[in-house]
Amino acid sequence: MGLVQNLSGVKDGPAPQSGTTMPLLAIVYFSISGTTEALAHAVARGAAGTAEIALCRIVGHDIVSGRFQNENLLETIDGADAVAFGSPTYMGGAAAQFKAFADASSDRWSAQRWTNKIAGGFTTGACAGGDQLHTLTYFSILAAQHGMLWCGLDIPGGEDPGGRNRLGSQLGLATHLVDGVLPQSDLLTAEYVGQRLARMAGRNS
Ligand SMILES: Cc1cc2nc3c(=O)[nH]c(=O)nc-3n(C[C@H](O)[C@H](O)[C@H](O)COP(=O)(O)O)c2cc1C
Repeated sequence: MGLVQNLSGVKDGPAPQSGTTMPLLAIVYFSISGTTEALAHAVARGAAGTAEIALCRIVGHDIVSGRFQNENLLETIDGADAVAFGSPTYMGGAAAQFKAFADASSDRWSAQRWTNKIAGGFTTGACAGGDQLHTLTYFSILAAQHGMLWCGLDIPGGEDPGGRNRLGSQLGLATHLVDGVLPQSDLLTAEYVGQRLARMAGRNS
């Protein structure tokens, strides 16, 4: 799928460079039980062919004494044209592990190093109305702090023949488990998010 590098927990080695004319989409996410990871992979599928992809999974051992310390992952974002932020909604917001990553981006913020990159986000929860909007709002504020250009969803909830954007969230992709399973329409929406971010990155780079 044009996968540049899977950075899940990898600290060593050079950050991927976009050596082709395709833009680079970095998908930065945290997941424990795999739902957010399934969404991240669907975002990657949607972007395939239009963007190079770096799957950047935030893992527990990246966080030492409360500080996120995976410089390779941050350097990958330095080189990306677009970034998708993903986290499960935990206690009404992004997971602490995602926040540790966000806090570690503060030196990039000082220099506005990520300015004008396209940004979008996705989240999941156990409940349909489990405060996922707060997680997406946080992602959009993080993007704004970095001078990034937020890209929401242009699918009106309840209007799509394929059932995409099932929960009617246009700030970004909100999903939830139905009987313990992620609905196919949510995965299709995630693919669309990837496609849209890749297209916007291509226009912007
Ligand atoms: C500590 C904790 C807090 C959670 N808080 C919320 C919440 O506020 N809203 C919600 O809808 N689901 C909540 N959940 C459920 C998770 O978002 C859900 O299980 C999600 O699928 C986990 O994502 P993952 O499979 O990518 O790890 C919480 C789960 C945990 C473990």
